[in-house]
Amino acid sequence: MRKALEDLKNQAIEEIKKISNFSQLKDVKAKFLGRKGELTRILKGLGSLSKEERPIIGRIANEVKTFIEQLIEDKERELKEKEKREKLEAERLDVTLPGRRPLIGGFHPISLVATEIIEVFKGMGFHIAEGPEIETDYYNFEALNIPKDHPARDMQDTFYIKENVLLRTHTSPVQIRVMEKYKPPIRIIAPGKVYRRDFDISHTPMFHQIEGLLVDKRVTFSELKGTLEEFAQRIFGEATKVRFRPSYFPFTEPSAEMDIGCVICKGSGCRVCKGTGWLEILGCGMVDPEVFKAVGYDPEEIVGYAFGLGVERIAMLKYGIDDIRLFFENDLRFLTQFS
Ligand code: PHE
Repeated sequence: MRKALEDLKNQAIEEIKKISNFSQLKDVKAKFLGRKGELTRILKGLGSLSKEERPIIGRIANEVKTFIEQLIEDKERELKEKEKREKLEAERLDVTLPGRRPLIGGFHPISLVATEIIEVFKGMGFHIAEGPEIETDYYNFEALNIPKDHPARDMQDTFYIKENVLLRTHTSPVQIRVMEKYKPPIRIIAPGKVYRRDFDISHTPMFHQIEGLLVDKRVTFSELKGTLEEFAQRIFGEATKVRFRPSYFPFTEPSAEMDIGCVICKGSGCRVCKGTGWLEILGCGMVDPEVFKAVGYDPEEIVGYAFGLGVERIAMLKYGIDDIRLFFENDLRFLTQFS
């Protein structure tokens, strides 16, 4: 039996030495010390020994047991150390690697162009006004001299929220809101989002307009022309030519559209200007007396002019962009060209 214990001890030393992970350790522990293990089997045989031998063998067996327990404990500590070292190694950071620069955002091209336009008019003494994007039929149409059955309503495919409540189709309702609140003289621009049911390479359901309104006792159409020509030259360059064509808007009389000489072909005719040499960039006119009546001004005493332009259209012409939808796809390859 002594021999069996001695062999068991040596066998344990050998096997424990070879252990390289926790599951092997568990198996080996069970094999030598477990209830069905080798040592237990040997100790069960103690009963068949003589009275003299029994305590001696019992003591040796206990020593072997403590010895093996110690070996297993040491191995367990060793494995834990190893695991910790490997984890640290795997998580090691190379602090000498060059850092990754965070992406720096920039202004959206529409914001850039809108800001540029706003600055031009601010420089001429216009103040900024704002109005809600959800409007009533009254402000968007009725007060602007567009009655219910007016064909001009078809020009602007409207998103209705419910009867008489809609997404504004232009920034002109801000004219009404400002005039209801203040007395002349008034000199404002109103930038903002507008909505129309339209979607193709030159229309998106949401786009941006900048409205202008100047109201006083004596205002002339030539002042309107001068102001808008100055604006066009500040945005598109000193050499920019402009022309005014008669047009129609229910809220201005007379009305006009302003064209600039084509920025692509410089007037000789190309695909962008459809061979005409001119590009339409805004609508304008003298405020219609009916509009003044709607806000309680006396049209015999008060005159004014108004204009409205599309920011996307101007941005497209300024940067030579041929599809309006590019502004809203949020492709960084497109957007970063402007920052
Ligand atoms: N509101 C008009 C449009 O959206 C533009 C405009 C504004 C025309 C002011 C004349 C005066 O088409």
